[in-house]
Amino acid sequence: MRPSDRGSPYNDYFRTLNTELKAHGPMRPVMLIDLDRLDHNIDVVMQSVKRGGKHLRLVEKSLPSPGLLAYIAKRAGTQRLMSFHQPFLNHDAQVFSEADILLGKPLPVRSAELFYQAHKGAFDPSRQLQWLLDTPERLQQYLRLAQGLSVRLRVNIELDVGLHRGGISDNAVLGQMLTLISAHPQHLEFAGFMGYDPFVGMGVPGILGSPQALFEQVMQRYTGYVDFTRQYFAGLWRDGLTLNTAGSPSYRIHEQEKLSTEVSVGTALLKPTHYDLPSLSEHVPAAFIATPVLKSTGLVNIPALDGRSRVFSWWDPNQRGTYFIYGGNWMAEFESPQGLKSNELYGRSSNQEMVNGSPAVELRVEDQVFLRPTQSEFVLLQFGDLLGVRGGKIVEAWPVYS
Ligand SMILES: Cc1ncc(COP(=O)(O)O)c(C=O)c1O
Repeated sequence: MRPSDRGSPYNDYFRTLNTELKAHGPMRPVMLIDLDRLDHNIDVVMQSVKRGGKHLRLVEKSLPSPGLLAYIAKRAGTQRLMSFHQPFLNHDAQVFSEADILLGKPLPVRSAELFYQAHKGAFDPSRQLQWLLDTPERLQQYLRLAQGLSVRLRVNIELDVGLHRGGISDNAVLGQMLTLISAHPQHLEFAGFMGYDPFVGMGVPGILGSPQALFEQVMQRYTGYVDFTRQYFAGLWRDGLTLNTAGSPSYRIHEQEKLSTEVSVGTALLKPTHYDLPSLSEHVPAAFIATPVLKSTGLVNIPALDGRSRVFSWWDPNQRGTYFIYGGNWMAEFESPQGLKSNELYGRSSNQEMVNGSPAVELRVEDQVFLRPTQSEFVLLQFGDLLGVRGGKIVEAWPVYS
């Protein structure tokens, strides 16, 4: 990005944000969510989901703020959530009492027990919650929990569709689980399958298969498990089962198939740098870290080297400006002004990180440095409230999960 006028380190977009944050921001590191850009990403996802005739399930861990989730859910018109963490699950069940929640990983049975102990409110787990289970052994544990609590648990079975992160990888084991479910209708209900396939869109080296070829293998596996179930456990099969698939990297390609009923998407709505993928080319980055410059100290000066440090500045014009920012060392890449870098020799810091750039960027104390997170989930939890901006103005402050 080129500065659009002389004397400004920013393009128009970041200059507007810099002015807004200096006037109305907290002047500490913040996570900005650009709502105009988020709207665009939600609409891109929904158009695809509609073309595919599916539903959208929002990945809660990738959008870890109830206010952010509620905003997206409203615009997308979905109440489906995928949860990964028992404390967040209890929170979701209370805040989103109408939600339909599918676990995204199998939790230890004790976590499930803690969920039931802590649960209160109108959310009815026997109708609205699906536990994701991966082995006959864990299913036995959940059966004992259901018997002990006198409840009926809805069971979604994790399929290995090629990710090899556990889950069902042969019909015999699937058959054991479905037999157990069939034998205990009072306590267990078959609710569907989950098959997650991010590798399809993650850009694996071409020699390992094109996205299309990988997708076809995924669907072959998924279809095999569905056909097996329909043939040998017809009594469990019904309309309305949750046949979940995809994630951000692969959701688009599922427009091509009619087997799954829903796709899960989270991170693509914010598009951190690791999601700069061909499959997400229509998405735009919508989350930025902004943090003020605390100090501008000129040429690079490394402890112990002192005056000899000047060789770095002499050698590299991008080490002639030294700035110390508020915080640092995040899972993020510098975005604006252009050309900034952290200094590995000086050392990374979470408190006041040294950042180097060319003095031509004309960055001043209290200007903001903008970074793009590399992922969403954990990074989004590190800044307190997410600040929603629209048209360059701060319009929302959403607490994150604690
Ligand atoms: C089971 C499952 N589904 C879907 C996703 C996709 O999440 P995202 O869209 O944030 O990449 C994940 C991410 O870890 C997952 O584990």
